[in-house]
Amino acid sequence: MAESSKNRFYVTTPIYYVNDVPHIGHAYTTIIADALSRFHKLLGNEVFFLTGTDEHGQKVEKAAAEKSLKPIDWADQVVVRFKKLWEDLNISYDYFIRTTESFHEEGVQKIFRTLQNKGDIYKGIYKGWYCISDELFLPEDVPLQEGEYKICPDCGKKADIISEECYFFKLSAYRDRLLDFYAKNPTFVRPPSRMNEVVSFVRQGLKDLSITRTTVKWGIPVPDDPPHTIYVWFDALHNYLTGIGYDWDEELFQKFWPATVHLIGKDILRFHAIFWPAFLMAAEFPLPQMVYGHGWWLRDETKMSKSRGNVLDPYLILNTFGADPLRYFLLREIPIGLDGNFSHEGFIHRANSDLANDLGNLIQRTLTMIQNYFQGTIEDIGEEQEEDKKLRLRFDQVKKKVLNFYQDYSINRALEEIWFYITSVNRYLAENEPWKIAKDNSQIKRLARILYQAASAIRVISYILFPVMPESAQKAWHFLGEEKSIEDESFSELKFESLKLGKKMKKPEPLFPRIALKDFLKEEKVQPAPLRKEKEKKMEEITFDEFMRMDLRVGEILEAEKVEGTQKLIKLEVDIGTEKRTMVAGIADVYSPEELEGKKLVVIVNLKPAVIRGIESRGMILAAEVEGKATIPFFDQDVPTGAKVR
Ligand code: MSP
Repeated sequence: MAESSKNRFYVTTPIYYVNDVPHIGHAYTTIIADALSRFHKLLGNEVFFLTGTDEHGQKVEKAAAEKSLKPIDWADQVVVRFKKLWEDLNISYDYFIRTTESFHEEGVQKIFRTLQNKGDIYKGIYKGWYCISDELFLPEDVPLQEGEYKICPDCGKKADIISEECYFFKLSAYRDRLLDFYAKNPTFVRPPSRMNEVVSFVRQGLKDLSITRTTVKWGIPVPDDPPHTIYVWFDALHNYLTGIGYDWDEELFQKFWPATVHLIGKDILRFHAIFWPAFLMAAEFPLPQMVYGHGWWLRDETKMSKSRGNVLDPYLILNTFGADPLRYFLLREIPIGLDGNFSHEGFIHRANSDLANDLGNLIQRTLTMIQNYFQGTIEDIGEEQEEDKKLRLRFDQVKKKVLNFYQDYSINRALEEIWFYITSVNRYLAENEPWKIAKDNSQIKRLARILYQAASAIRVISYILFPVMPESAQKAWHFLGEEKSIEDESFSELKFESLKLGKKMKKPEPLFPRIALKDFLKEEKVQPAPLRKEKEKKMEEITFDEFMRMDLRVGEILEAEKVEGTQKLIKLEVDIGTEKRTMVAGIADVYSPEELEGKKLVVIVNLKPAVIRGIESRGMILAAEVEGKATIPFFDQDVPTGAKVR
């Protein structure tokens, strides 16, 4: 295996065909690459992350013709869609290569000529079954249907017989060298099941590969033989060299080649694990360290793909939830090597339970308590107790495990480990009950310590989540009063106790929306595009006397509990000065019952009672409503319960 220095990480995605707009499947590979690349940047490694588009070949020629456009004009349009999606998904690639760029075309021609001069490329006649949709000659062993035609085993479409003069690459000559390379580098292909698949295919013997076409106009011309164009796969694979400077920036190229990992879907394994290393051996380049063939996202048990017509538009989720929940879901739900079934139910479940409940609530209630009890600044935290120490030390183990999992491409396991830790921080809060301690002034230091522990945990959790959820993680740091960006702290510096005392922390905004499945599906049907804006209603004017008819008072929340079987409702026992009232409020998506207890707020007490979920609600708390979510104005000074509000 080619040695690479430990400070260098070069990751690639396949370059995507511009025959159609991007879908969740394309987003998946690119998100994995982004998370890995961000993680390696945190480690302090020198990272290069390459993605791009595959713009030549029959598929693109055909797609453009259907739109009555020149292939390049069509490609220009589709590329914009890819770039926009990567921007909306927060993809931090270092270069986006298009195979129609002249430096790439020239680089491919140069390599073609080199192999031709060496005798690894020669001219001959090819006749065979060809799948236009996949740009692929079918393997010989694909059986004839009804004795007269063949079906592409990949896409299920009818193949055509093609017979043409073409150039061949001497793949057959590389069989033994490939087998030897696989034997010496057993992790060249991951997961291991795919390595086995590759080895047994190569063992059966390899035929020479036809690498040019005369039937396809839209391709890189063969040097000095223009009616021939270079087969789109020979063209495309070389993007991994030209994209980091081959033949135009020698220094960059020397620094980053060979690739640390080519991330690909398992559909294109043979191209990457057999043809590509053979091309590189022929041209005498060092070989990449690894080809990781990930699984597919399926819908209704079949691969999501354009030709099957079952692709899912990422914007259906992005428009409502933003990038992080989608990134989290795709990386958390399945190990990189396996297939996963994409369902909205599965997505909503994870978004609500892992993000809104576990993580969102932890951040929300910790920071809200810090605001309420310490006006945002914790200064004196007293002694560390045994349980505090446990929480702190546990993070050291979590950090080690997460490091290993990320390094080993097991992002789902890293996330699982982080979630165990989030659960233990939530448990720490539940057991230490800061909302109760807050009622006893003599325990103010203990209260400060508990909240400092929770805030410190949020800081380190956000950090290790950053590769997967960069935007939310950075926001959480901002709430904690951290001025620097997460990327400015290296992984090795990260410590539980790094949160400085005396910082002014901010009032948190909810990071993750909680949306019921039925509401999401409704929105999806009604409005897949940008979020709807509520129409502003113009309210009628009222007189001062009318206003005075409202009995507004300071109420104190004595008890709060969730209304069973509902997502949003909380039942409150509110002291209004003269009596205790039960009120029901739709605020559980933003507030937890614990953080409400002891709070003072404005209530309207002479509102007609209403029965909500079988509970008589007598009165109503006042709150601001922003995009369907409540923000309650609590009093930050002590005011007598029952005082009139005017
Ligand atoms: N252009 C070639 C790749 C050339 S690389 C030198 C190609 N392009 S593609 O647009 O068809 O994209 C293929 C890649 O998209 C897959 O390898 C995979 O990474 C991703 N996916 C497309 N559909 C997918 C799923 N349903 N699930 C997961 N990933 C999938 O092949």
